[in-house]
Amino acid sequence: MLEQLKDLHAQALDELNKVNSLRELELWRVRHLGKKSSLTKILRSLAALPLEERRNGGAKANEIKRALESSLEEKKKLLQEALLTSPLESQTLDVTLPGRPLPTGRLHPTTQALKEICDVFKNMGFQVIEGPDVEWDYYNFEALNIPQHHPARDMFATLWIDAGIGGKARLLRTHTSPMQIRLMERERPPIRAIVPGRAYRYEATDATHESMFYQVEGLAVDKNITLADLKGTLFDFCRCLFGEERKVRFRCDYFPFVEPGVEVAIGCSACGGAGCRLCGYSGWIEILGAGMVHPDVLARVNIDPEIYSGFAFGLGVERIPMLRYGIDDIRLFYSNDLRFLRQF
Ligand code: PHE
Repeated sequence: MLEQLKDLHAQALDELNKVNSLRELELWRVRHLGKKSSLTKILRSLAALPLEERRNGGAKANEIKRALESSLEEKKKLLQEALLTSPLESQTLDVTLPGRPLPTGRLHPTTQALKEICDVFKNMGFQVIEGPDVEWDYYNFEALNIPQHHPARDMFATLWIDAGIGGKARLLRTHTSPMQIRLMERERPPIRAIVPGRAYRYEATDATHESMFYQVEGLAVDKNITLADLKGTLFDFCRCLFGEERKVRFRCDYFPFVEPGVEVAIGCSACGGAGCRLCGYSGWIEILGAGMVHPDVLARVNIDPEIYSGFAFGLGVERIPMLRYGIDDIRLFYSNDLRFLRQF
């Protein structure tokens, strides 16, 4: 019997070596330590044996049972540890690898310029207001002293939406000036507002002309507003955007809805005033039109021109980043080439 027990032990250990999972281990336990195992059978049969054999056999059988139980516990521990560590080993993670770069978006150069322009005027006490891109002929032209067949309509090649009669025709606004009228219709002086927005022209595009571009309109109406207020406001604005050193030119121009009318130009940054493609070989770039609101325009919106006066200006937004960065083609702004847009 002692021989049999020894063989049993050896075989059980041999099989235990081959066990690779907790499931297999459980089967092994049933096979070698369970109620129907050979070892249990031997332990049960001991009672029928003579005393001497019973004592020796019993001691040996119990010793083997304990040995197998402790081998079982050891193996169980090993298998449980492996269960934890093996996925960590097979899915190794190199924490020293550099991260993947996240592409970040940015504001369009026009959006940046609009924000900057609006901030300067907000600090001077102007409110910021927006208006419709689709406009009536009345607001875009008639109320601004440009009736049907007026030659000044040629200044604004128009994208018409429909052919209504007189002021009832609809169009894409050719400038933000119609908002002067809308503002004065719904508010009484003192008025101080700017209007950022899109304008549209039916024009062949080239380096300095786009069919869609941005303007910022400005309007101030109150008692005692003079051309000096206009000049001071615009010069201040130019200094804020371009610095004290930059040359600013202020001279006469004509727009039907202002009297007198002026134009403001900035010394060309691309050529330093020597003349280049960007400035049309003049050394100057016009950035805005302006003037004192025409008395007839005030009268049309029931603001008495004998009591009140005002100034207005219209600024070309893309011109600002063009001047600042020496961009020599306005078409780059809206052709969505990321290589261009990512630079700002
Ligand atoms: N609306 C004019 C333009 O687009 C600019 C302007 C605005 C001129 C206000 C005078 C006063 O050219």
